[in-house]
Amino acid sequence: MIAGDEGVIRTNDDATNCKRYAIEVGYWKDPFIECFHSGFNKFERKTPEINRGYFARVFSINYLIMKFIRFMNKQRQSFQIVNLGSGFDTLYWKLKAIEKIDGIKSFVDVDMPEVTMKKLHQMRMRPQMLSHLGDDIKYSSMELHSNEYHLVAADLRSTKEMRKKLFTECQLDKSLPTLFLAECVLIYMTVDESNSLLSWISSSFDECIFINYEQVNIFDRFGEIMIENLRQRNCELLDLESCKNLEAQCSRFQNNGWENCNAWDMNTIYKQGIPRHEIERIEKIEFLDEENLLEQLLKHYCLVVAIHGFKNASEIVEEISF
Ligand SMILES: C[S@@+](CC[C@H](N)C(=O)[O-])C[C@H]1O[C@@H](n2cnc3c(N)ncnc32)[C@H](O)[C@@H]1O
Repeated sequence: MIAGDEGVIRTNDDATNCKRYAIEVGYWKDPFIECFHSGFNKFERKTPEINRGYFARVFSINYLIMKFIRFMNKQRQSFQIVNLGSGFDTLYWKLKAIEKIDGIKSFVDVDMPEVTMKKLHQMRMRPQMLSHLGDDIKYSSMELHSNEYHLVAADLRSTKEMRKKLFTECQLDKSLPTLFLAECVLIYMTVDESNSLLSWISSSFDECIFINYEQVNIFDRFGEIMIENLRQRNCELLDLESCKNLEAQCSRFQNNGWENCNAWDMNTIYKQGIPRHEIERIEKIEFLDEENLLEQLLKHYCLVVAIHGFKNASEIVEEISF
């Protein structure tokens, strides 16, 4: 761990708390998030704009992931998923138990040891989590390997460590299509560190797709306040340049070996990408006094889809989109 990492690690508690509250009041369903509740204040209230923002984040990331999976299924192609800075995310369980998807060859959750240790501890206490992992499970104090699912402790800033974890320990196959997900993660690394991670991935996997959710349009008053709030909690946002606007978000991928890239701000996705009936449903849950608070918030987050190496790239770009 290096100076400042504690603050970054704590952002996982914030994300989990916000997701739990939104689930509690009915924005979406996730029976597994409960498994990671220990130590969190169960009823820590969040404002309606935060809840709607989290709903848009979770809905749209799931939507893109499911598009990728259906595309692979249609071609009868197995695939791998790597969740970078996964925190207490329950994606694997949602895909297996709720979506009942086929075709996953390997699924890897990666985070700092302090986070994976807690995640593993919670999982080991809950048979309903382990029951989805099959019988052949190997544990260490901070890692788990099963047939399909792997939880590994690694620092994303070290490509050497990533290579060892993904290829030697999880035995990922470089020739299989692989989806990488980073949800509010890259911004905590310096420009050089995130560039080197992105370039290592594109040079190590033959066909890969990256879904990145994070801040955008950061250089305005709202962005300044966001940066300052996090700084006061000992959490420095480091890769600000890539979060300047949607073009900068795509350039960082294109400069690191990803040939195709699309990016949308969350305001656009909220208004045009999420089905109307879903928006109408969630907008009935809580009254939102000031619409512009939500618009401001959504304008400062984005989703990026970058693609490398696929022969049918244009088909994939069109498919995995809003
Ligand atoms: C804001 S949380 C998001 C967690 C999860 N992706 C989600 O959205 O629910 C950021 C996560 O990234 C992890 N992270 C940040 N930098 C990392 C690094 N260099 N190596 C491994 N994990 C890192 C943190 O420990 C934390 O769990």
